Amino acid sequence: MFEGKSGVLLVGGLGFFAFAFLSNAVVPMLMYRDLPEQTTAELVAKNSNLMYQFEELSYRYPEQFKQHFGEPTTDQCAEALRLGRQIYVSEGCWHCHSQFVRPVSREEDRWGPVSATWEYQNELQRPVMFGTRRVGPDLCREGGRRSNDWHAAHFYRPKLTSAASPMPEYPWLFDGAPDKPNRRGLALITYVQWLGSWLESYPDYEAYQPLAERLKEK
Ligand code: HEC
Repeated sequence: MFEGKSGVLLVGGLGFFAFAFLSNAVVPMLMYRDLPEQTTAELVAKNSNLMYQFEELSYRYPEQFKQHFGEPTTDQCAEALRLGRQIYVSEGCWHCHSQFVRPVSREEDRWGPVSATWEYQNELQRPVMFGTRRVGPDLCREGGRRSNDWHAAHFYRPKLTSAASPMPEYPWLFDGAPDKPNRRGLALITYVQWLGSWLESYPDYEAYQPLAERLKEK
């Protein structure tokens, strides 16, 4: 049978499968075997950008925060991140948002630095949320781009901030009103603010410059 057309296709097909498995699974596994995977607690401990946002939530929504997370400690922040990621997965946010700035089409002008391997070497990236569809913008540099209350209003009803938005509403992340995010709402905001918070490019509000001005300087 190996001499016939179907035999050639079979051997070719198996060969390419084996090659793909080798190059896409075995080689990366061997390359990154010695790179330690960071836990969520480790990610939080070194991340003042994120703790700034988490504390800001506790000032902005004192009653809600106290009830759902108590004090803005690093342990609570780690818990919020894990929960936030679960909600991101379960609500299907990744159907419409990627988390990967690609090195093509000048994506970095729009979203920030191209994604690098080390950024995905941690507990919160298992499995990774690269995504392929982009009904909405890429989110891996979303942290710090908007304020916490912007996210709250947007999750409550996206049309409040973006008039023509096709993004669904998520009222169940709130105890009734957009200024009352519940445990899940606070967790999701924390998660979104975390995205990209490990980079130096995380916005520094005092140094912030609108895109038009940054492009002029180039
Ligand atoms: C049906 C597709 C769709 C789904 C599902 C969706 N989004 Fe969106 N999202 C969009 C679109 C389109 C925009 C751009 C318009 C806007 O701002 O609402 C957007 C905007 C955003 C922004 C603002 C980005 C920026 O800075 O301008 C954030 C943050 C966001 N989405 C997070 C989420 C999260 C978290 C979820 C899951 C709870 C989610 N999205 C689910 C389509 C979607």
